[in-house]
Amino acid sequence: MKTTVFLSAAFATAAYAQNASTFVNPAVPTGQPIPGNYSGGLRPQVHYSPPQFFMNDPNGLFVDADGTYHLYYQYNPTGIGAGNQHWGHATSRDLYHWENQQIALFPPEESVFVFSGSAVVDVNNTSGFFPNQTNGVVAMFTLARYYPNAAGPQTQNIAYSHDGGYTFQLYNGNPVVNSSSTQFRDPKVIWYEEYWVAVIAYSQEFAVGIFTSPDLKHWTFASNFSYHGLLGAQYECPNLVKLPVRDSRGAVTSEAYVMTVSLQPGAPLGGSITEYFPGDFNGTHFIPFDAATRLTDFAKDNYAAQYFYGVPDREDAISIGWASNWQYAQQVPTGNLEGWRSAMTAPRANYLQNTTRLGLTMINKLVDPAPVLDVRLNATTFGNSSLSLDFSHVVSNALYIEANVTGLNTSLVSGGATLNLTFTSPSSGESLRSGFFFGGDNPFWIDRGLVRGFDNIFFTDKFSAANIYGGSGSLSGDGLASWRMQALFDRSICEWFADGGVHAATVLFYPTQPLTTVSLASQALPPGSTVSVAIWSLKSAWAPYANEQGTVLGNVSSSGGGAAGSKRHMIYEGSFSS
Ligand code: FRU
Repeated sequence: MKTTVFLSAAFATAAYAQNASTFVNPAVPTGQPIPGNYSGGLRPQVHYSPPQFFMNDPNGLFVDADGTYHLYYQYNPTGIGAGNQHWGHATSRDLYHWENQQIALFPPEESVFVFSGSAVVDVNNTSGFFPNQTNGVVAMFTLARYYPNAAGPQTQNIAYSHDGGYTFQLYNGNPVVNSSSTQFRDPKVIWYEEYWVAVIAYSQEFAVGIFTSPDLKHWTFASNFSYHGLLGAQYECPNLVKLPVRDSRGAVTSEAYVMTVSLQPGAPLGGSITEYFPGDFNGTHFIPFDAATRLTDFAKDNYAAQYFYGVPDREDAISIGWASNWQYAQQVPTGNLEGWRSAMTAPRANYLQNTTRLGLTMINKLVDPAPVLDVRLNATTFGNSSLSLDFSHVVSNALYIEANVTGLNTSLVSGGATLNLTFTSPSSGESLRSGFFFGGDNPFWIDRGLVRGFDNIFFTDKFSAANIYGGSGSLSGDGLASWRMQALFDRSICEWFADGGVHAATVLFYPTQPLTTVSLASQALPPGSTVSVAIWSLKSAWAPYANEQGTVLGNVSSSGGGAAGSKRHMIYEGSFSS
């Protein structure tokens, strides 16, 4: 792995009384976004991926008063593996088209990494940073210190932004939660009635610390949520989020909290996974409703998801996760082939619903992909039949697929009733397969084992979920059961939402040749059931912004605004040593 030569280039300016100095690695461009080429054969076209280099967790997700979504992310702007952590930044109006922004958060010193955290809009100026504005943003994050041969403490810190989240100053009263622990990280802040609440992982003690604050600067420990669910070897990136509870017709009947905990390594399928607990939060303590451990996904490529701050109460929460797994994130072939590693999941809308036998379940619905839908290539309704479609003419090599199965008389469903969805490369013979067995143990399954562009012992290839459908949650108007599947296929990432989002999976795959044929086939469905299929080609969310050289420059039009941005207007001609 490359090591970066750090030269001293601290920015100890005093535009605001409370700011602290920032260390800028000379190899890291400042003041404008890093350019990227999004045309590579493995590059997702409707998912976010960084312009170049290595990305991991989503950070600081918030939606501002103008409806702009801000996505920050763990970013190494100098290499294709983890290290040298900063906060990269992108913005979107619709959660599908993203505009790259300049790097938002730099470390205070050379031997410190900016780790994961969150952001809030301090509308009422509780922090005192924003006397004359309502759009001030405060980010809270972990600073992780490294000594030459050892990890140093991880402390919680804040930075504030006067320009709506484009540039930040580190607070000179940092850290706001001190610690001597080397494993204390990832603060996620929410507003609770009349104060701030942060959940922070004591990673190797398997505890989520709950803290409260009136002003984001002074934090008081309130309680620990410890030893719940699967432990793996560490707890990371906790979230506490209020979700609407919907009845089977979709009406909001109440609200409840969910605690999510990402664990890593040691997930049941290997590496990284996220578990969640629906429960009560009284402002200081979180009590789960039951003793069950539930996972957000049944595959293994959605980690450290975060929920946007600023979504109004009683609306579905919106989350985005890191579409990877630490078991192989730093080895996937996009790094050497195309100079970037990792994408984010598509945005998911989340709410709670009682599902058959399972109790309150967090539903994952794909946020409406309308902004990237292009042409409806197929719309068919059939009983037991199949269809196959060549989509090699679709330049984006990305598709959205919906299949609705209705009229299912569950007492007549045999174990052999299936609906399969397969993507194939006619030239290499590779295929990505999935399907549902309506009877028997109801497995919904996915197999990436016939895609051959990445050979890694941990890149396990088969996933399945027990999909107990047919209960009150999935009864259609005629009293018969219905079952719905959506799939978002995007070059090297595919996401499935089964049974209306009761089960979700994000799956990476790396074909040697593009997969350009899709087929759907149903078999042995009982008489009276129908399958309605719609297949859409997708428009690339990146291609329209590429210049003649194929480069997406991102937001180069402004400094990111204000006095805060202008002092970073310098691009260093940095260099690496290996
Ligand atoms: C999770 C994580 C966090 C940490 C960050 C560092 O993927 O390990 O706990 O803050 O990544 O990049």
